[in-house]
Amino acid sequence: MAESLAPLEWSGDAARGVLRLLDQRRLPHEELWLDFGSPEDVARAIRDMVVRGAPAIGLAAAYGLVLAARRGPAAIVEASRLLAATRPTAVNLAWGLARLGERARVDPSPEGLLEFARALHREDVEGNRRMAALGAARIESGMGVLTHCNAGAIATGGVGTALGVIAEAQRQGKRIHVFVDETRPRLQGARLTAWELSRLGVPHTLICDGMAASLMARGLVQLAVTGADRIAENGDVANKIGTYGVAIAAFHHGIPFHVAAPASTFDLSLADGAGIPIEERDAAEVTDWGGTRICPKETAVFNPAFDVTPAALVRSIFTDRGEISPVDRESVRRVIQR
Ligand code: MRU
Repeated sequence: MAESLAPLEWSGDAARGVLRLLDQRRLPHEELWLDFGSPEDVARAIRDMVVRGAPAIGLAAAYGLVLAARRGPAAIVEASRLLAATRPTAVNLAWGLARLGERARVDPSPEGLLEFARALHREDVEGNRRMAALGAARIESGMGVLTHCNAGAIATGGVGTALGVIAEAQRQGKRIHVFVDETRPRLQGARLTAWELSRLGVPHTLICDGMAASLMARGLVQLAVTGADRIAENGDVANKIGTYGVAIAAFHHGIPFHVAAPASTFDLSLADGAGIPIEERDAAEVTDWGGTRICPKETAVFNPAFDVTPAALVRSIFTDRGEISPVDRESVRRVIQR
């Protein structure tokens, strides 16, 4: 497989280098890379969604701790708390911080932590390639494939999860057409997934989120696949708001709904999805369009960034450790604890 696009990279040595992030707020219009030299700046970048997508924010946070390590071991603990508080739903963030934290107890040097963060980054990309191969086997030539949000290379260390599966199917010569949910309110589908699919040369059609069920009823969709932000022990999946509706519609039409996610997205401490914290974001994401308010100023807004799809609606989960199918507590434990 060709070298994949990545949304983040470390530039320079451990003592003076910076974390470079592709500013995803500017896509698809501009490919702007920004440099970050402190954990506080990395935390702001995660909160403001310069970098987003569960595995990508986990890796950004890990590199953020390399920057903190320059100030000594106590600063690593402090920065870890700050970074953990930026976005609550994607467990990859806590996972990246925990992995670096464990490593720092053995070797808190910026050099040692940079090497370790780079290894996690490489592992993420390699895991995505394995999951792409598993998922692509479920895609047949001629299929219409629906996806929600952006689970592409730029949401991970590279390659992507759900889009990695789609890209691999295309690479294998399968003729597919992707339906891209625009993904209100932040339009990750329209801005990011459509951009990645264009770069990959995968034929695709952008639709409003509310159109997905009707496309399924018309027979245009044969498979749906998304990424995930946190998966509980029983297989309940938290992902971008609107994913649950896609899964219900797919179930109603007998269309398989799959999820692609690495082991770092699983939270086996939660028995089911009820315990997953759901981030609520600024009302302006819903009330405003291009800087202009689109509803009366007194109208109330609810803006949860994620929802939880019950395991019963998920046909299988492609992971870097194998495929989980059926999706239940026993299979989750068997595959993830491998
Ligand atoms: O709010 P975002 O853009 O960070 O949400 C991202 C998603 O919901 C993705 O589907 C998920 O993180 C999987 S990314 C491989």
